[in-house]
Amino acid sequence: MAEGTAVPASRPSVHVQGVVKSFDGRVVVDVADLTLGRHGIEGLIGPNGAGKTTLMRMIMHSIRLDRGKISFDPGDGAPEVVISSEPAHAIARMGVVKTNQVIQDFEQLTIWDSLLLSASQARDERAYRIFREGRVWSQYGDEIQGYLDYLPFDNPFGFAGSAGEKKLLDIIRCLLLRPKLLLLDEPTAGLPAGTRDRVMELIRKKASEENVSVVIVEHDLNVIWNLSSYVHFMAEGSVVLQGDPAWIREHATVVEKYLGKGHVGR
Ligand SMILES: Nc1ncnc2c1ncn2[C@@H]1O[C@H](COP(=O)(O)OP(=O)(O)OP(=O)(O)O)[C@@H](O)[C@H]1O
Ligand SMILES: [Mg+2]
Repeated sequence: MAEGTAVPASRPSVHVQGVVKSFDGRVVVDVADLTLGRHGIEGLIGPNGAGKTTLMRMIMHSIRLDRGKISFDPGDGAPEVVISSEPAHAIARMGVVKTNQVIQDFEQLTIWDSLLLSASQARDERAYRIFREGRVWSQYGDEIQGYLDYLPFDNPFGFAGSAGEKKLLDIIRCLLLRPKLLLLDEPTAGLPAGTRDRVMELIRKKASEENVSVVIVEHDLNVIWNLSSYVHFMAEGSVVLQGDPAWIREHATVVEKYLGKGHVGR
């Protein structure tokens, strides 16, 4: 069932084994054996309800597994760690970080303050100290400013106004956490084309220059075909195909279950 390029050894990755999740007696994720992250940027695609978000939330341990084990290989020679028995905050601290499909509410904090707060989490700093002491600001100020210059915000000193700005804020928040493996759940949904291209460029740069492994869920398949070097196709809770984007794109199963019959050749 697998097809495609040779797998490099040294990328951060997660290994999902025998993982099952049911809601109300209905199995929504059932993944026997899956490794995510070893090809740099990987796409995770599939129809609505396939279980993509649920699988990502299981990796982050933001929902409980019914069964199975998930481990993280940091890719730097350090030993693999079982993360499915760790609390969510510990997993994030190890470098496995996820953006949210449904954006969080940042309305109580300005853009700058919410990013400083994220940076303080990256440093394991107590939140109340960040505004009293200048250390987080001096260490992260330039980096935050760089992101705010690169991505379009109406007023970086104000509050995130639109759903798009909240989405961008969520992505920057994750990057400030210094991810080794970054899970992106529909990061460009609802963004204008120019902004989407900037986000894609930023992700590409993180993967190529900082060895961050990225797993990206998107329904905008142009993002997947442009960005990823390997694709996992999920349907009805399981990963049913894996391979090169070009191979996945033309595969009859993907076309039938997801793309629609008219897609091939377009
Ligand atoms: N907390 C929950 N309680 C009950 N059912 C849930 C819950 N979360 C997800 N589900 C169900 O599990 C299935 C998988 O949902 P999930 O959100 O993982 O799919 P998805 O592949 O991310 O879909 P989409 O592309 O629409 O985001 C769906 O049928 C969904 O309704
Ligand atoms: Mg989803």
